[in-house]
Amino acid sequence: MKAELHLDKEFTVGEVDKRIFGSFIEHLGRAVYGGIYEPGHPQADSNGFRKDVIDLIKELNVPLVRYPGGNFVSSFNWEDSVGPVDKRPRRLDLAWHAVEPNLFGLNEFIAWTRATHTEPMMALNLGTRGIEAASALVEYSNHPGGSYWSDLRRSHGAKDPHNIKLWCLGNELDGPWQVGQKTPDEYGRLAYETAKAIKLFDPSLELVAVGSSNQYMPTFPQWEATVLDHCYDKVDYLSMHEYYANRDNDLPTFLANSVGMDRFIERVVATVDFVQAKKRSPKKVHLSFDEWNVWFHSNDADKKLTPWTVGPAQLEDVYTFEDALVVGTLLNSLLRHADRVKIAALAQLVNVIAPIMARNGGPSWKQTIFWPFYHASKYGRGTSMNVKLKVPTYANKTYGDVPWIDASAVRSEDGKTLTVFLVNRSPNQSVELSGSFAGLESMKLVGHTALHHDDVKAVNDEKHPNNVAPVEKPVKPMAVGSMAVALGPLSWNVLRFEG
Ligand code: AHR
Repeated sequence: MKAELHLDKEFTVGEVDKRIFGSFIEHLGRAVYGGIYEPGHPQADSNGFRKDVIDLIKELNVPLVRYPGGNFVSSFNWEDSVGPVDKRPRRLDLAWHAVEPNLFGLNEFIAWTRATHTEPMMALNLGTRGIEAASALVEYSNHPGGSYWSDLRRSHGAKDPHNIKLWCLGNELDGPWQVGQKTPDEYGRLAYETAKAIKLFDPSLELVAVGSSNQYMPTFPQWEATVLDHCYDKVDYLSMHEYYANRDNDLPTFLANSVGMDRFIERVVATVDFVQAKKRSPKKVHLSFDEWNVWFHSNDADKKLTPWTVGPAQLEDVYTFEDALVVGTLLNSLLRHADRVKIAALAQLVNVIAPIMARNGGPSWKQTIFWPFYHASKYGRGTSMNVKLKVPTYANKTYGDVPWIDASAVRSEDGKTLTVFLVNRSPNQSVELSGSFAGLESMKLVGHTALHHDDVKAVNDEKHPNNVAPVEKPVKPMAVGSMAVALGPLSWNVLRFEG
């Protein structure tokens, strides 16, 4: 099959905010206990942080980590997680039916973000709690000293303020599974008043209002419109969440999910901009896609878990090669919408639906989905380009006509490098790709990295950590005008041009 890819130096989507390569650590399963924190592990540092896991996170170059939930946050008392560890209460976590020992809390998390070179994105409990607890947490975290909450932090050994810039005003409060579910009017008012209090403390703090838990919620997109009617002027971002699954083993549909993600983003943009128009507001609210991933492999196992234990093996999806292809297309979708999606979080980071796995007392390794995320995070920073593809399509019952190729392109900040990310969705046909880059004709292909496995269900595990791993394809430097690159069937491809 043949395909053409056309770019023009002047036709750009927008600057890629590096925070779209963010991720998420929730107090859930073995994300914290046994994932990032395991005192006594041979690789643990003096804080109990696993250095092998920190190294893998640094390799992914994750700029932002959302914490501490997720569903967990909606019945969490942040005060339980600070102060002398032996005085912290053990609590039942109603969201995940586990015991939270509070051995790792806010101040430990901030120390861990410094060790991993990431920034915190802190979620507030607007499920069971409200303005007062949220304001206290912000003051505890960010005020230098001389007030009740900031002096309490100092007394806990954290002399300097944490300077947390980004805050989530709750999590998935439209969901019936959430402790403290709200109607859009209830939530919109609470979000407005909480945002008001936080901005009175420091107007430079950035706030994310809760959008729908996914685009199939019955209240989508009226939830977004009503919530923003209340709080548009006080918030900076609206959240989006979506997980993708292949429960019916229908690969053509599974691989087309980025079409669904494109539509979801475009519908939320339309709704946000509708509220902007209604309010005659000069302000743009952007999007924070702060939970996205493939999630379904662990669903059955999770139903059999014994409740009320610490750090159970929960949501431990073992990712296949086909999942990595889907994650590649979802990254493309985020890059294609870089003008409006300014924050995103791959949910999650370690052990729990994660690119990184770590065995208690044992080694850590890279899941298949590690690779597209690694490539996009490494080469996807700069300016997202408008990609025009001429490529045949296939008919799909869910998404209509789906192009065989899914692509995005990013030009580095210094303009010297251009990277094109492509997934070939065809199970049996190689794609002969040619192209034209107007205004960038001097660019030459210098690298072609590909991820492929003959078995779409292939996985990486402790014994075979490199079963699914990228390979460098031989390339002879060729000018864009004469570019002819073969993209193998079912492959993730990273084409790097310089000039
Ligand atoms: O990431 C797992 C869960 O998915 C989060 O806790 C919740 O926000 C979402 O439903």
